[in-house]
Amino acid sequence: MAHEGADIRGTCCEGTGLGGVLRDRLFPTGSLIRLPKEFALDRLIPSFRRKGYGMTAQVLDGTSIANQIYAELGHDIERLKKAGHTPGLAAVLVGDNPASRIYVNRKVAACARMEIVSRKIELPQSADTAAVLGEVDALNADDSIDGILVQLPLPPQVSEKEVLLRVSPHKDVDGLHPMNLGALLMGNHAWASCTPSGVMQMLRRSGVEVEGKRAVVVGRSVLVGRPVAILLMHAHATITVCHSRTKALASVCREADILIAAIGRPLMITQEYVKAGAVVVDVGINKVSDPGLVSRVFKDDPVRLAQFEEKKYLIVGDVDPVSVSRVAGKLSPVPGGVGPLTIAMLIHNTACAARARLGHLL
Ligand SMILES: NC(=O)c1ccc[n+]([C@@H]2O[C@H](COP(=O)([O-])OP(=O)(O)OC[C@H]3O[C@@H](n4cnc5c(N)ncnc54)[C@H](OP(=O)(O)O)[C@@H]3O)[C@@H](O)[C@H]2O)c1
Repeated sequence: MAHEGADIRGTCCEGTGLGGVLRDRLFPTGSLIRLPKEFALDRLIPSFRRKGYGMTAQVLDGTSIANQIYAELGHDIERLKKAGHTPGLAAVLVGDNPASRIYVNRKVAACARMEIVSRKIELPQSADTAAVLGEVDALNADDSIDGILVQLPLPPQVSEKEVLLRVSPHKDVDGLHPMNLGALLMGNHAWASCTPSGVMQMLRRSGVEVEGKRAVVVGRSVLVGRPVAILLMHAHATITVCHSRTKALASVCREADILIAAIGRPLMITQEYVKAGAVVVDVGINKVSDPGLVSRVFKDDPVRLAQFEEKKYLIVGDVDPVSVSRVAGKLSPVPGGVGPLTIAMLIHNTACAARARLGHLL
């Protein structure tokens, strides 16, 4: 990872396939260069707005909104601790999916940051449904655990449906149990699943008015698309949900005042899908390792190009940020947008679950 003012050797760029001229300009072979400040990863988000980048959209900064949420949660958690209970979150990780491991580790790190109990239960890739259900049963019965998160996807031999049904609805901090999905539909939910709630927090805390607006959600998964559409409807937006069979997708999206992309298709949403001034929330998290695609989309972004040179891949959203920033009013970046909010809402939901279980203590 390149840090502010870090020295890196130009030789690290050998054989990456990026355009030679650009590569040589950035990292002359064998030279020792000092990265300017704007190459630091923590400056990536502000770089969206750099002069001459042709970008106008205001950045919806998920990291700073997540920090606000953590600050508020600190007081809640303190109250629970004073009443004699430290909230606890358990994450069940089955198999060796590297992305799942990273996500679980981030969640455990957030627990450490908020000084709540965390437990990571790891099962091998070969684990069967019974083994996962056994762990879930034990966590359901464990009084030190308020929230249970089963990291998806599960290996193919494990029944996701059976596992999600077995998590106690009172500890289902991912909001995926049918009882919690039903409560969400009825509008009397104690908490909603983390990513959709994170999207709503992002809109609310960025001053985006939702009531009466036209919102288009691209994606209809139970994890993201459907619950975010329901939350937007509860907030009095007029909703359209699109999916892979939607006809004339770009023109439907162009009707949106608020466009939510939860598709899983890297950089798919370009300016042709966006009405001038619209708010665009990019939920997607995709790994891209195609140098042609990276150099085409990010040709004017030395920060992204340097990241790609270093790691040989980029994490991007479903939205092409270069193209969409030219027309959108506000845009959430990837990384640094919905991702940090998802984790903050997981801790929020865990604190809610603890309060609900131990309400008599407060
Ligand atoms: N930021 C976070 O914390 C976070 C959390 C969860 C997920 N994510 C990311 O969000 C993205 C979506 O996740 P998911 O779990 O909802 O994915 P998913 O279950 O694969 O659902 C994708 C949805 O997009 C639709 N879709 C696919 N291709 C399309 C196309 N060409 N045109 C229109 N619609 C299309 C699918 O339609 P059909 O229903 O017709 O197949 C489906 O409804 C992924 O990139 C995932 O990594 C991020």
